[in-house]
Amino acid sequence: MVLPWLAALAAYLLGSLSFAVIVSRAMGLSDPRSYGSGNPGATNVLRSGSKKAAIATLLLDAFKGWLPVMLVKWFGEPYGLGDGTMAAVGLAAFLGHLYPVFFKFQGGKGVATAVGVLLAFQPLLALATVATFAIIVFFFRYVSLASMVAALFAPAYYLLGNGVAWQASGEKTLALMAMGVLLIWRHRENIRRLWAGTESKLGSKKKP
Ligand code: G3P
Repeated sequence: MVLPWLAALAAYLLGSLSFAVIVSRAMGLSDPRSYGSGNPGATNVLRSGSKKAAIATLLLDAFKGWLPVMLVKWFGEPYGLGDGTMAAVGLAAFLGHLYPVFFKFQGGKGVATAVGVLLAFQPLLALATVATFAIIVFFFRYVSLASMVAALFAPAYYLLGNGVAWQASGEKTLALMAMGVLLIWRHRENIRRLWAGTESKLGSKKKP
């Protein structure tokens, strides 16, 4: 069946819109790949000093993960598209963010886009994962650490909620696990900096 593949391709293209770069350009700010961690993501855009740009990046990057899954959820059933396609489009949008075809395949770390996908999978799952993220940020001030811990917890929460708050699907579980592994892989420089004690904390504008 060709439809799930087309849906995944469309989601990948949407995910390839690197909003950190697009928003920064539109607002006349420096390219986020040229300062701080060099990551085209909301956390690094915040280091430009523009909270507005960081929030816009966060929302748009999350939206591009949320939308494809919701479109399948809303309109997919008559075409035989279900959990498998939702998992595929969510993962495809996430992959687009990490490896964007429009930006020489050099994208971000996927945190905001993953939140969008979680929100579309199950709002309660997103809430639990974001709460985990917020607790780690509150105590340690490292967005990277919080993102990785939350990424590890997300599939566990999804399985914990099975039969209680929702019926977990194997495809969505796999998509969450794949996103978690990729997200941590994309944070390998952050892991080195955390280990060396040189990772920048939330609120500090410059990388040491
Ligand atoms: O948004 C990704 C975040 O977890 C880390 O970003 O810029 O500190 O590498 P950054």
